[in-house]
Amino acid sequence: MEQCIASALNKQILAELDAASLYLQMSSWLEGNGLKDFGGRLRRQAHEEAGHAVILFNFLKERDAATATASGSVRRREHSFASVKDVMDRLLAQGKHISANVAELIRLARGERDADAAVLLAWFSAVQLEEEEMVTNLLLRVSRWYRDAVGKLRDIDAELAKRQGTIPALLNSQKRHGVA
Ligand SMILES: [Fe+2]
Repeated sequence: MEQCIASALNKQILAELDAASLYLQMSSWLEGNGLKDFGGRLRRQAHEEAGHAVILFNFLKERDAATATASGSVRRREHSFASVKDVMDRLLAQGKHISANVAELIRLARGERDADAAVLLAWFSAVQLEEEEMVTNLLLRVSRWYRDAVGKLRDIDAELAKRQGTIPALLNSQKRHGVA
Protein backbone atom coordinates (compact mmCIF):
# COMPACT_ATOMS: atom_id res chain seq x y z
CA MET A 1 0.00 0.00 0.00
CA GLU A 2 1.23 3.48 -0.86
CA GLN A 3 2.30 5.45 2.19
CA CYS A 4 0.17 8.46 1.19
CA ILE A 5 -2.99 6.29 1.28
CA ALA A 6 -2.01 4.67 4.58
CA SER A 7 -1.45 8.12 6.12
CA ALA A 8 -4.72 9.46 4.75
CA LEU A 9 -6.63 6.44 6.10
CA ASN A 10 -4.96 6.84 9.48
CA LYS A 11 -6.11 10.45 9.47
CA GLN A 12 -9.62 9.32 8.62
CA ILE A 13 -9.59 6.92 11.61
CA LEU A 14 -9.07 9.96 13.84
CA ALA A 15 -11.80 11.91 12.02
CA GLU A 16 -14.26 9.05 12.66
CA LEU A 17 -13.31 8.94 16.35
CA ASP A 18 -13.67 12.73 16.50
CA ALA A 19 -17.19 12.41 15.03
CA ALA A 20 -18.02 9.72 17.62
CA SER A 21 -16.90 12.07 20.40
CA LEU A 22 -19.03 14.93 19.01
CA TYR A 23 -22.11 12.69 18.69
CA LEU A 24 -21.74 11.46 22.27
CA GLN A 25 -21.66 15.06 23.47
CA MET A 26 -24.75 15.84 21.40
CA SER A 27 -26.45 12.75 22.77
CA SER A 28 -25.70 13.83 26.32
CA TRP A 29 -27.06 17.35 25.69
CA LEU A 30 -30.25 16.05 24.05
CA GLU A 31 -30.91 13.52 26.80
CA GLY A 32 -30.23 16.20 29.43
CA ASN A 33 -32.90 18.32 27.73
CA GLY A 34 -35.53 15.61 27.88
CA LEU A 35 -35.06 14.22 24.35
CA LYS A 36 -34.14 10.66 25.21
CA ASP A 37 -34.90 9.06 21.83
CA PHE A 38 -33.15 11.79 19.89
CA GLY A 39 -30.17 11.37 22.21
CA GLY A 40 -30.33 7.60 21.85
CA ARG A 41 -30.21 7.93 18.06
CA LEU A 42 -27.01 9.99 18.31
CA ARG A 43 -25.54 7.56 20.81
CA ARG A 44 -26.05 4.77 18.25
CA GLN A 45 -24.55 7.06 15.61
CA ALA A 46 -21.47 7.56 17.81
CA HIS A 47 -21.19 3.79 18.03
CA GLU A 48 -21.36 3.56 14.21
CA GLU A 49 -18.64 6.19 13.78
CA ALA A 50 -16.37 4.34 16.21
CA GLY A 51 -17.14 1.21 14.17
CA HIS A 52 -16.05 3.03 11.00
CA ALA A 53 -12.73 3.81 12.68
CA VAL A 54 -12.28 0.10 13.50
CA ILE A 55 -13.17 -0.94 9.91
CA LEU A 56 -10.46 1.40 8.58
CA PHE A 57 -8.01 0.20 11.21
CA ASN A 58 -8.68 -3.46 10.29
CA PHE A 59 -8.27 -2.65 6.59
CA LEU A 60 -4.87 -1.10 7.24
CA LYS A 61 -3.87 -3.93 9.55
CA GLU A 62 -4.76 -6.55 6.94
CA ARG A 63 -2.88 -4.72 4.22
CA ASP A 64 0.17 -3.52 6.08
CA ALA A 65 0.44 -3.91 9.84
CA ALA A 66 3.24 -1.37 10.08
CA THR A 67 0.99 1.48 8.97
CA ALA A 68 -2.02 0.57 11.11
CA THR A 69 -1.27 2.78 14.06
CA ALA A 70 -4.30 5.04 14.45
CA SER A 71 -1.68 7.41 15.80
CA GLY A 72 -2.19 11.10 16.30
CA SER A 73 -4.74 12.58 18.61
CA VAL A 74 -8.43 13.14 18.43
CA ARG A 75 -9.09 16.85 18.78
CA ARG A 76 -10.11 17.70 22.30
CA ARG A 77 -13.40 19.44 21.79
CA GLU A 78 -15.95 20.45 24.32
CA HIS A 79 -19.24 21.46 22.92
CA SER A 80 -22.21 23.27 24.28
CA PHE A 81 -25.34 23.56 22.25
CA ALA A 82 -27.88 26.36 22.06
CA SER A 83 -30.86 24.39 20.82
CA VAL A 84 -32.00 21.25 19.05
CA LYS A 85 -31.68 23.12 15.76
CA ASP A 86 -28.11 24.04 16.67
CA VAL A 87 -27.36 20.33 17.25
CA MET A 88 -28.90 19.43 13.88
CA ASP A 89 -27.01 22.22 12.05
CA ARG A 90 -23.72 21.02 13.48
CA LEU A 91 -24.59 17.41 12.78
CA LEU A 92 -25.16 18.25 9.14
CA ALA A 93 -21.95 20.30 8.96
CA GLN A 94 -20.01 17.40 10.49
CA GLY A 95 -21.57 14.98 7.98
CA LYS A 96 -20.60 17.24 5.07
CA HIS A 97 -17.06 17.54 6.44
CA ILE A 98 -16.68 13.73 6.60
CA SER A 99 -18.23 13.33 3.12
CA ALA A 100 -15.66 15.77 1.71
CA ASN A 101 -12.88 13.79 3.42
CA VAL A 102 -14.16 10.53 1.98
CA ALA A 103 -14.48 12.02 -1.53
CA GLU A 104 -10.88 13.20 -1.30
CA LEU A 105 -9.77 9.74 -0.13
CA ILE A 106 -11.56 8.12 -3.07
CA ARG A 107 -9.77 10.48 -5.48
CA LEU A 108 -6.47 9.57 -3.84
CA ALA A 109 -7.14 5.79 -3.95
CA ARG A 110 -8.13 5.99 -7.63
CA GLY A 111 -5.09 8.10 -8.43
CA GLU A 112 -2.84 5.53 -6.78
CA ARG A 113 -4.77 2.70 -8.48
CA ASP A 114 -5.60 1.12 -5.14
CA ALA A 115 -8.75 -0.77 -6.10
CA ASP A 116 -9.34 -2.32 -2.64
CA ALA A 117 -9.18 1.05 -0.90
CA ALA A 118 -11.44 2.59 -3.56
CA VAL A 119 -14.08 -0.15 -3.03
CA LEU A 120 -13.98 0.23 0.76
CA LEU A 121 -14.22 4.02 0.49
CA ALA A 122 -17.13 3.80 -1.94
CA TRP A 123 -19.00 1.92 0.80
CA PHE A 124 -18.10 4.70 3.27
CA SER A 125 -19.35 7.29 0.82
CA ALA A 126 -22.71 5.50 0.40
CA VAL A 127 -23.17 5.22 4.19
CA GLN A 128 -22.27 8.88 4.57
CA LEU A 129 -24.76 10.05 1.94
CA GLU A 130 -27.52 8.02 3.58
CA GLU A 131 -26.69 9.63 6.90
CA GLU A 132 -26.66 13.13 5.43
CA GLU A 133 -30.06 12.56 3.84
CA MET A 134 -31.50 11.47 7.18
CA VAL A 135 -30.04 14.52 8.97
CA THR A 136 -31.23 16.91 6.23
CA ASN A 137 -34.78 15.56 6.60
CA LEU A 138 -34.65 15.89 10.37
CA LEU A 139 -33.27 19.40 10.08
CA LEU A 140 -36.09 20.39 7.73
CA ARG A 141 -38.66 19.10 10.21
CA VAL A 142 -36.96 20.79 13.17
CA SER A 143 -36.66 24.10 11.22
CA ARG A 144 -40.35 23.94 10.27
CA TRP A 145 -41.28 23.26 13.88
CA TYR A 146 -39.18 26.26 15.01
CA ARG A 147 -40.86 28.50 12.46
CA ASP A 148 -44.31 27.38 13.65
CA ALA A 149 -43.28 27.73 17.29
CA VAL A 150 -41.96 31.28 16.73
CA GLY A 151 -45.20 32.14 14.89
CA LYS A 152 -47.27 30.82 17.79
CA LEU A 153 -45.17 32.75 20.33
CA ARG A 154 -45.76 35.95 18.34
CA ASP A 155 -49.52 35.25 18.41
CA ILE A 156 -49.38 34.84 22.19
CA ASP A 157 -47.27 38.01 22.46
CA ALA A 158 -49.79 39.99 20.41
CA GLU A 159 -52.62 38.58 22.52
CA LEU A 160 -50.88 39.65 25.74
CA ALA A 161 -50.28 43.13 24.29
CA LYS A 162 -54.05 43.51 23.77
CA ARG A 163 -54.78 42.30 27.29
CA GLN A 164 -52.49 44.90 28.90
CA GLY A 165 -55.16 47.53 28.25
CA THR A 166 -57.72 45.69 30.35
CA ILE A 167 -55.75 45.88 33.59
CA PRO A 168 -56.00 49.70 34.14
CA ALA A 169 -59.65 49.51 33.06
CA LEU A 170 -60.26 46.93 35.76
CA LEU A 171 -58.41 49.07 38.33
CA ASN A 172 -60.49 52.12 37.38
CA SER A 173 -63.69 50.18 37.81
CA GLN A 174 -62.52 48.90 41.22
CA LYS A 175 -61.64 52.47 42.26
CA ARG A 176 -65.13 53.61 41.28
CA HIS A 177 -66.59 50.98 43.56
CA GLY A 178 -64.17 51.83 46.35
CA VAL A 179 -62.40 48.47 46.14
CA ALA A 180 -58.94 49.85 45.29
FE1 LIG B 1 -18.24 7.57 9.65
